[in-house]
Amino acid sequence: MQLWFFAVFTLSSLSTGLGHPKIPSFIKVCSRSDPNLNECVKESVEQIRPHLANGIPELGIPGCEPLVLPEIVMDQGKGSIMVQSKYKDIQIYGPSQFVLKSVKVDDEKNRVKIKLRLPRLEMIGNYSIQGRIMMLPIAGKGICSGNYSDIDAVAVMQGEKIQKNGMTYFNVKDFLVDFSIGHATIHLTNLFDGDQQLGDSMNEFLNDNWKSLAEEIKPVLEKTIGDMFKKFSNKIYHKYPLNELLPP
Ligand SMILES: *[C@@H]1O[C@H](CO)[C@@H](O)[C@H](O)[C@H]1NC(C)=O
Ligand SMILES: *[C@@H]1O[C@H](CO)[C@@H](O)[C@H](O)[C@H]1NC(C)=O
Repeated sequence: MQLWFFAVFTLSSLSTGLGHPKIPSFIKVCSRSDPNLNECVKESVEQIRPHLANGIPELGIPGCEPLVLPEIVMDQGKGSIMVQSKYKDIQIYGPSQFVLKSVKVDDEKNRVKIKLRLPRLEMIGNYSIQGRIMMLPIAGKGICSGNYSDIDAVAVMQGEKIQKNGMTYFNVKDFLVDFSIGHATIHLTNLFDGDQQLGDSMNEFLNDNWKSLAEEIKPVLEKTIGDMFKKFSNKIYHKYPLNELLPP
């Protein structure tokens, strides 16, 4: 999912920065006065797609195939889901297959809004979980995997212009991500200390109820991904003055 934002930033980071590391030539630069700025940015994103998958070392951007989330900790204590869970080394495959729906750059409000669809994501990682889900006790530690399809995502990047060494730079304050999942299947290995029968029924139960589970997990996942994008985008924005990233 990080493509969208990479896209926006990288593509704009392509101007000729004197004294800066050379900006890769595969990025299409957009001028902020372009009457079709949104279209231009959208095209840039499309053009940069293959590079997003493998990463762009020149810009300090890691590849997103897979997208790696080092750790997510969830401590849910209300409603029908009361669990403590921890996920490590989560690898998400498929984000570079995004389909861009729309890109809206609002220079005056320092805001970029991107809508996209992800046909399919495949996730694998280590988990540990303990608690109750809809009254049922759950406990386990092993490998979790999941497949998610037809994901609609909206990303809103809100920034501000800041002054540094007499130059204007862009600083991302908030990177908000909102998504909805069309369908999901999940599997947890080694539930209940490896008890096959209990594990099988719990997995069946989790899949039958994936929608309510996804709703509970969504906010944490959205925040984790949003914070990661914010960090990466600021790496670029703090490196190149705004006039080079988005020339007049
Ligand atoms: C994840 O699980 C695998 C297989 O059990 C293990 O080799 C690996 O060390 C685990 N990673 C972490 C971060 O615990
Ligand atoms: C996800 O899809 C892969 C490949 O299509 C499949 O091997 C795997 O069993 C699926 N996992 C789940 C949890 O549905």
